[in-house]
Amino acid sequence: MRILKDKFTFDDILLVPRVSSVNSRWQVDTATHLTDKIKLNIPLVSSNMDTVTEHVMAIALAKLGGVGIIHRFNSIESEVEEIIRVKREQNIVIEKPYVVSRDITIGQIKEMVNEKKVSSFPVVEKGKLIGIITRRDFEFEEDLGRKAAELMTKDVITSHKGTSLEEAKKLMAKYKIEKLPLVDKENNLIGMITSKDIKLLDGYSKASKDRNGRLIVGGSIGIGSDYLERAKALKEAEADFIVVDVANGYLQKTADVVKQVKKLGIEVIAGNVATKEGVLNLKKAGADCVKVGIGPGGACLTRPVAGVGYPQLSAIIECANNGINIMADGGIVKSADFAKAVAAGADTVMIGGLFAGTDESPGVIVTKESTNYKFYRGMASVNAFSDRALKTEEAADLEGYTPEGTETMIPYKGTVIKIVNNLMGGLRSAMTYTNSKNLKEFQKNAEFVLLTSSSKGESKYK
Ligand code: XMP
Repeated sequence: MRILKDKFTFDDILLVPRVSSVNSRWQVDTATHLTDKIKLNIPLVSSNMDTVTEHVMAIALAKLGGVGIIHRFNSIESEVEEIIRVKREQNIVIEKPYVVSRDITIGQIKEMVNEKKVSSFPVVEKGKLIGIITRRDFEFEEDLGRKAAELMTKDVITSHKGTSLEEAKKLMAKYKIEKLPLVDKENNLIGMITSKDIKLLDGYSKASKDRNGRLIVGGSIGIGSDYLERAKALKEAEADFIVVDVANGYLQKTADVVKQVKKLGIEVIAGNVATKEGVLNLKKAGADCVKVGIGPGGACLTRPVAGVGYPQLSAIIECANNGINIMADGGIVKSADFAKAVAAGADTVMIGGLFAGTDESPGVIVTKESTNYKFYRGMASVNAFSDRALKTEEAADLEGYTPEGTETMIPYKGTVIKIVNNLMGGLRSAMTYTNSKNLKEFQKNAEFVLLTSSSKGESKYK
């Protein structure tokens, strides 16, 4: 029998300060790589959990320079819709705008506005643009039975494929319009530019964007029966990468799924593992990044239930520097944990519970004894298991299920922007303390000191 000794987690150590020429937190560069091909300006990822990441969270994170991963605990169509919503958010060209026909009624259009959260629709007939109907045209119309053709603008100002940002801005200013449909020579609708997207684009210089200026987002799949269909649908929806999300990344099936999904020609992140052996196995299968963490998460029960796990700081240290990017996943409860995870070698850090309970996390606010809460639950909890079965129409044997996740109510925290700023403030401070201008230097300069129980007491909030 082998017993590994001296393995640590975040609260067991501190970073050692050094003489530093980095005098300000704003002098540091926090850019990193999610995978070799995907660059981020901050090393933060929101977890693919159904109480953490849908499109609202993914949009917020990408705008701040990180990225969100849409969860897979829903139907394939719903996951795809979430991806599409992120991709539409900051694209100056909406390639497939929602369109309506001339016969659609104002009542139906109003329903679409509520459902799709867009307020203008090009009107098309056999693919050709015949008009545009915007909120102005129908907002105060009381006769819900009137047709789009009666109220639409027929002389639409349009532009062509490849219209630049500057050209679009000029046309919008000249004609005082907010939507600019793009058509080909035969007047077929091929896209649309909106002033809202242009304004947003101007406002977020650090955002994580793809080659077309759209926000970056990831989708997730499991290893159950629908994984290939789901992966193909996510690729089709232009997700930037796919996470093969399995609690046990050591299963042969996990590596097999990674191999197959890689063949679709998309970046793949796989996990979870906690040792070098696990990383190398998934790297060999073709993964572009490996997710590290067995049981450190706030809603995890794997350690008490299965007795399996690995202290997270040591897991990160051992999994880093194996020729593949790693994402530390789980156990971050304060900015110091985040800074230590990055110092230990994590290229990116995945956050669940800390981002739950925010405006951007899915779910409603519930009030109990005058305090507001939102739910946070492990994806292996009983309710997540049974909800998922309902949403994906998979059979669920609740009697025979041993949950490895908990469910809690998290006090409502306001916007996630505040939490990201706190985490980044901690990381930036740690970088100045260790004379590190960028994350490479931070990881090279990092030296940890092991704490005794009384020095742990000394480190506590006073
Ligand atoms: P934090 O600590 O950020 O952790 O809330 C988020 C990570 O926890 C993992 N996760 C689970 N682990 N049982 C587990 O053992 C679960 O039910 C469960 N749900 C999520 C996951 O890796 C997530 O990113």
